[in-house]
Formats: sequence, C-alpha cells, structure tokens
Amino acid sequence: MQDFSGKTAVVTGAANGIGLELAKVFAEQGMNIVLADIERQRLDSAVSEVTALGVEAIGVVTDVGVSASVESLCKTAVERFGGVQVLCNNAGVYTGGLLWEQTEDDFEWLMRVNQWGIVHGIRHFVPQMIAQGDECHIVNTSSMASMCTLPFAGIYHMTKHAALAVSESLFHELAMMAPQIHVSCLCPELFNTGIAQSGRNRPAELAAENDNEMHRMSMDAITSATAGSQHPRVLAERVLQAIKDDVFYILPPEDNPWSATANSRLEDIRLRRNPTFAPPAI
Ligand SMILES: NC(=O)c1ccc[n+]([C@@H]2O[C@H](COP(=O)([O-])OP(=O)(O)OC[C@H]3O[C@@H](n4cnc5c(N)ncnc54)[C@H](O)[C@@H]3O)[C@@H](O)[C@H]2O)c1
Repeated sequence: MQDFSGKTAVVTGAANGIGLELAKVFAEQGMNIVLADIERQRLDSAVSEVTALGVEAIGVVTDVGVSASVESLCKTAVERFGGVQVLCNNAGVYTGGLLWEQTEDDFEWLMRVNQWGIVHGIRHFVPQMIAQGDECHIVNTSSMASMCTLPFAGIYHMTKHAALAVSESLFHELAMMAPQIHVSCLCPELFNTGIAQSGRNRPAELAAENDNEMHRMSMDAITSATAGSQHPRVLAERVLQAIKDDVFYILPPEDNPWSATANSRLEDIRLRRNPTFAPPAI
C-alpha cells in the first residue's frame, strides 16, 4: 500500500504503547483512525492526541478477547468511515513465572488476549475487507518471543508462537483467495511501554494469579528490560515502512541481540539438536 490518505486504520490496544504510536503514524499519513482498547480513560486521551494531528479519530472500548466486542468494533468502524483498509491486531498482555506454577487463569488470560484477540480480528474483519474488494493490509502483533523460547515466560512464548503461526497461515490463504489483502506479522524486540503492567487490565473473572517469587522475578525482569528500551515510535515507523514495502516479517535489525537468539533456535531445529539456552545479550 502506498497511498494512505483518506483510508481507515483500526488499531487494537491503541490507548498506550505500540498501538498508540501506530495510530499516530497512520494519522500523520492522513488516515481516519479507529482506536480500540479495553482501558476507557487512556483511550479517551489517546483519541485526543490523535485528533490533534488533524484527522478524524474515534475510540471504541473493545475487549479483543470477546468475539461480539470485536464484531461490534468492525461494525462501528464501517458505519463511521465506510470501510477498513488497515487493521492492526495489536492488543497483548504479559505474565511470567514457571509453567507448572502458573494458574489456569494466567493461561486463559494470555490466550484470550494474545491469541483469540487476533483470531477474532481475522474472523470479523477479513470478510469485511473481502467484500470491500480494495487493497488492505493486516498487521498482527506477535513478538520476538515467537521466534525463540526462554524460561519463566512460557505462556507468553506459547501465545506469541501461535500469533506468528496464524499470521503465516493467513498470509498463504489470502495470497490464494484475496491477494489484494496483505499481511504482516510484527515481531518487536523490547520497547518502553506499559506491557510490564499488563495486570491493570486483567478481567475480574480471570483474577486467580500465580503470585510467588518466580512470578515476581519474571515481572521485575520485564519491568527493568522494557523501562530501559526504545521508544515505540521507532517501531511504528518500521511498521509503516513494512506496509509500504509489503514485508511480512517485521523484525528488529540483524545486529539486534534478539536476532541472534532467534537464529540460535532456527539452527537448533535445522541441525536437529536440543534447544540451546541463548538469551539475548542485552
Ligand atoms: N513492549 C514490548 O517490549 C513488546 C515486545 C514484543 C511484543 N509486544 C507486543 O506489543 C503489543 C502492544 O503491547 P505494548 O508493549 O504496547 O503494551 P501496553 O500495555 O503499553 O499496550 C497494550 C494495550 O493493550 C490494551 N489491552 C490489554 N488487554 C486488552 C483487551 N482484552 N482488549 C483490548 N485492549 C487490551 C491495554 O489497555 C494497552 O493499552 C502486545 O501484543 C505485546 O505483546 C510488546
């Protein structure tokens, strides 16, 4: 996609972090923006920030883990702007700890947001995009966690591997059935966002959290790693360029430490050897 002006972008998880920067970068291209998020207050201020860039923007309170909520997001976007040309299935959450100590609610929460969030986005928006018949682009946010596995973050890795797999399958299916709809999978390294405080949006019905020492150690690690990392504006610009260039894998630069970790896992599989413990040297 080269021409963005007057087209419409829907971004989930747009009240903060990466999603908000995506919304702003698309607004700078003259797009109409639909910001979707579960966190109402932050969503309102995010809409003001985007509107201040001189475009039409609306906020839609959405829980990406609930099919009807994403269906209603799609309807609202189409009613307001006539169609959707860019969809970023970006909302995501994190928790960590030992796999056998984390609760079923821990698993359910991450699977609901990180996996079902993308699935609901695909199921409700792709038929709409096919019906429109115009050029569209879907960006699913996964993570470099989809390209490697590290201890104490097993649920997150599992959900992000799933996000990458479903994005690759979607890429193949759309290339065959509706090639005007393009797909990218965003695999960020670390960025300074609110991801380490994901628990602020945890639903009451999935409140049973593993809260032991290993969990706290994992959360401390992600808190300090993200706090000292890059501003997500860098990533939003990377996404815009990838949409322009029709690039599927949106990856960190080759010299980023996460690239070495991912390459180590790919080599493990290629050489049929057991998993190497190769955390990024950050
Ligand atoms: N920050 C990083 O270092 C990093 C690295 C790799 C991948 N990611 C991924 O980037 C995406 C964005 O995360 P971020 O880092 O900007 O974190 P963030 O917490 O700053 O933003 C995530 C947004 O998602 C929203 N959200 C949470 N649950 C939701 C739900 N059920 N429905 C709708 N919205 C919901 C939150 O309210 C928040 O505004 C996530 O998918 C995350 O896994 C982040």
